[in-house]
Amino acid sequence: MNFELETLNLKLRRMRIYLIGYMGCGKSTLGRSLATHLNLQFVDMDHYIEMRNHKTIPQIFAEEGEAEFRKKERKALEELSEFGDIVIATGGGAPCFFDNIDLMNNSGKTIYLNIDPSILADRLLKSKTERPLIKGKSKEELTAFINDTLSKRNQFYKQAQFQITRPDIGLKEIEDMIS
Ligand code: S3P
Repeated sequence: MNFELETLNLKLRRMRIYLIGYMGCGKSTLGRSLATHLNLQFVDMDHYIEMRNHKTIPQIFAEEGEAEFRKKERKALEELSEFGDIVIATGGGAPCFFDNIDLMNNSGKTIYLNIDPSILADRLLKSKTERPLIKGKSKEELTAFINDTLSKRNQFYKQAQFQITRPDIGLKEIEDMIS
């Protein structure tokens, strides 16, 4: 077998897990623990985009707009889909643009963290992370925004191969579910 084919085989055989779901559903927190539990690397996609572009996410939104952010997000996903032995916490909108959800499903295991909208609203109101899409929204505005965007995004999130609905699910249970 030639070298390129062997490398490709290695890449394909290696474990790659994508955590998807709405802002505030806990992708990064769970991703970190799951990666440690499975002895894999962890990458937060937003952080990767910031490092790659030398700008924060709020800066990209403010200076270049959402459409440009989505292109950068797609590029980051293409790069990360080549990494092996990794758990990736994706940005909340990532599966909902271009054919990103297909790319994820074709290159790894996808897990949707399906968390109740009222829990999302509470967490996002308390969160210190600056998120351009919801910045400055009151509780009522945020709740309406979550309901509206979730109704559009669910069709993408629901394409994940696995789904978690209980925030207290154990890591071993997740490991068994995806193996
Ligand atoms: C976004 C979610 C954010 C970040 C950006 C846009 C979205 O990531 O990618 O602010 O469209 O839902 P988190 O889900 O990690 O907050």
